[in-house]
Amino acid sequence: MVESYSKNANHNMRRPVVKEEIVSFMRERQAPVTDALKELEEFARRENIPIIPHETVAFFRLFLQTMQPKSILEIGTAIGFSALLMAEQVPDAKIMTIDRNEEMIGFAKENFARFDQRKQITLLEGDAVDLLEHIEQRFDLIFMDSAKSKYIVFLPEVLKRLEVGGVVVLDDIFQGGDVARDIMEVRRGQRTIYRGLQRLFDATLDQPGLTASLIPLGDGILMIRKNQEEISLPTEE
Ligand SMILES: C[S@@+](CC[C@H](N)C(=O)[O-])C[C@H]1O[C@@H](n2cnc3c(N)ncnc32)[C@H](O)[C@@H]1O
Repeated sequence: MVESYSKNANHNMRRPVVKEEIVSFMRERQAPVTDALKELEEFARRENIPIIPHETVAFFRLFLQTMQPKSILEIGTAIGFSALLMAEQVPDAKIMTIDRNEEMIGFAKENFARFDQRKQITLLEGDAVDLLEHIEQRFDLIFMDSAKSKYIVFLPEVLKRLEVGGVVVLDDIFQGGDVARDIMEVRRGQRTIYRGLQRLFDATLDQPGLTASLIPLGDGILMIRKNQEEISLPTEE
């Protein structure tokens, strides 16, 4: 029994931002995961652990095979499902992944020991807030799948560690559609996330030096390409 996620967690995963029948179609018709990933997907579903949904898996397969990143950073490992998907799709990539939840770290370690056959994945334990500044390496791809209110906080450090031509993918950015509403229509407990995401959109969607796109997969993905070395993000208000 997993303790970190109750059966009522992941509220926004049950508020699809595109028609439910289209979500079901995308989940049913696109090639399923197999072997280790299938085992982990079933475990996550049973235990209500929020891994990337199948429509995002299908998109990642195509995107990863096309992009062929050599170095990947992930913020938000959970049980290691998305890290192992990336390892499967880009066999010569090195993947660094960060998580702070001890229970998830336990599962991820076990899963990497069993399934990371080419030893592509390095797990860093701790809060990304503390760890990011100590990472000196640069990456072709950075996948952010952690606390959404912190995306805007991490963004400057993340962009510094991204190669020119590299891409940042940020997951779960639509808040079940709340981001398109007025803040007064958003539940009080969700407003910190709402404000953080609005600041993220302000900083990235029309920013010289970046190309950005919002994609309605799962609870929404923001993809950002870094086109030049110097990016001057708006400063904190
Ligand atoms: C949505 S899950 C990641 C799912 C995983 N990417 C997948 O699809 O298989 C989010 C994870 O991010 C971790 N997390 C959230 N905020 C974090 C932070 N500031 N630093 C490190 N890990 C964080 C949580 O502990 C949780 O395990």
